[in-house]
Amino acid sequence: MSEAPLVTLERDGHAAWLTINRPEARNALSFPTLNLLRELLAELREDDSVWAVVLTGAGDKAFCAGADLKERRTMPEDMVPQFVRQIRATMDDIAALPQPTIAAMNGHAFGGGCEMALACDLRILDAEALIGLTETSLAIIPGAGGCIRLPRLVGAAKAKELILLARRLTAAEAESIGLVHQLAPAGQTRATAEAMLAALQNNGPLALRAAKDAIDGGLDLAIEAALEHEAACYQRIIPTEDRLEALAAFAEKRAPRFAGR
Ligand code: COA
Repeated sequence: MSEAPLVTLERDGHAAWLTINRPEARNALSFPTLNLLRELLAELREDDSVWAVVLTGAGDKAFCAGADLKERRTMPEDMVPQFVRQIRATMDDIAALPQPTIAAMNGHAFGGGCEMALACDLRILDAEALIGLTETSLAIIPGAGGCIRLPRLVGAAKAKELILLARRLTAAEAESIGLVHQLAPAGQTRATAEAMLAALQNNGPLALRAAKDAIDGGLDLAIEAALEHEAACYQRIIPTEDRLEALAAFAEKRAPRFAGR
């Protein structure tokens, strides 16, 4: 019998679901898991038929318990920087996907699991799960973008509290500080993500890509350059069929049918 893949890719219409598939290890990120995840991300990045990507974990215990601490224990010291580069590059690949991304956190998200969610655009968390950048309790630091993305999301003061105290926030606490967008009733993460996907898919898929690019690309620019970047993103969608379809649908008082062209 062949072994189950460490990450699965499932396509459902114009959505793609990536599932970290190591429930017995609480979906911890080992080298082989990251390698496969990066391969699948590279495939999705080039796939115009995919309009949204959901990242989730197998089982009901954890979304992802972060770096694989058992693998790490046996890792020679000189391999550690390579692992950290690989996990960081994975999160950067997630953040760089042109499609909107949803982290559907079906359970706890610690360390690299939380960083994976931070690299997504939208975050859903099971109401009974905990989330946190807990690395300092293991005498390391978040090294896959956590020290950079968390303060941009919740402010430097809050990020310092969470990282320096290695806090494990309840889902309600995480929602109250804006770290997650939506709580899923316990065990209902998939259904909640499907509803969010449906809401996304009411909107023009090329417009979603352009808006994501306008926001992400503008964040670190001076305001004049950021506004120019927004203008360039807008320009890309002017010649699209979907824009004309939306105008026609509005005039005809019907729902638009987008084609992603
Ligand atoms: N790396 C490797 N294995 C991990 C892991 C990790 N990050 N997290 C959990 N596991 C393994 C456990 O060692 C255990 O393996 P075993 O059955 O061989 O003993 C198995 O997953 C189940 O873990 P367990 O702790 O019994 O499950 P739980 O459901 O009670 O708790 C967590 C889940 C996520 C709360 C808990 O495992 C945990 O706190 N993990 C560490 C999270 C962390 O600090 N991550 C930061 C990494 S930088």
